[in-house]
Amino acid sequence: MDTYPEESDAQHSEVTITRALPRHVAIIMDGNGRWATQHGLPRVFGHREGVKALKPIVKESARLGIEVLTVYAFSTENWTRPPAEVNTLMSLLEEFLHQETPELKAEGVCIKTIGNISALPEPAQRALAWAREETAKETRMVLNIALNYGGRDELVRAVNRWLSDPSVTSSGKRLDALTLERYLDTAGLPDPDLLIRSSGEIRLSNFLLWQLAYAEIYITDTLWPDFTAKELAQALYTYQQRDRRFGGIG
Ligand code: IPE
Ligand code: IPE
Ligand code: MG
Repeated sequence: MDTYPEESDAQHSEVTITRALPRHVAIIMDGNGRWATQHGLPRVFGHREGVKALKPIVKESARLGIEVLTVYAFSTENWTRPPAEVNTLMSLLEEFLHQETPELKAEGVCIKTIGNISALPEPAQRALAWAREETAKETRMVLNIALNYGGRDELVRAVNRWLSDPSVTSSGKRLDALTLERYLDTAGLPDPDLLIRSSGEIRLSNFLLWQLAYAEIYITDTLWPDFTAKELAQALYTYQQRDRRFGGIG
């Protein structure tokens, strides 16, 4: 399909695309707190709505044939928030996993994580281990959840893992890009083709610093709890209009 309806008419069912879909979509799910404030509610209500918004996006991404959907759920910097908010976010994560894993599994979704999971509270770690295990054999789409994730932290952990490999230290090997990628949390996954950020902020906030090198970027003012499959379709359509040159001349 070469033409697409006006933005306001965009229907997600019409993304039947002959142009290539992104293989990997990464989303910075931002704006939960502002959504709550706009509705006269405490911030945690925004997080609850934000979790609700995720499932339809996961299901629609799988339906469309996207291979990997990475969602930024908790950054290494988010620990600086008030403890009550952090605790709510961890509880919502557990709740989401317990409630949604069976349905995601039935949809063929394999749940993975990136970030330093070992520093999360024990109950969250257990829920994640269970969800990963339950869905490990699913092959339709990877839902990759970034938790206690920071791009800088990931790179430092990767280099340290490489350095502690005995075959490296004894051989005097030097690190190259392909080797480094094998030590990143995203090892084995393609780089994101499309980065979506909700709530209008135009920054990376320490997300996938290495992997986003050539991603197309789509920013929307929509706050994450209001982000729908229709907006996903708009992002995908916009992506398909881009001329990806990768430093060449197109
Ligand atoms: C995104 O929403 C969720 C997390 C960062 C965990 P925010 O909580 O950042 O919402 P705003 O940016 O304050 O509106
Ligand atoms: C990025 O959003 C992290 C997540 C969405 C999990 P933040 O709200 O934490 O980022 P900043 O503070 O606006 O850069
Ligand atoms: Mg935010």
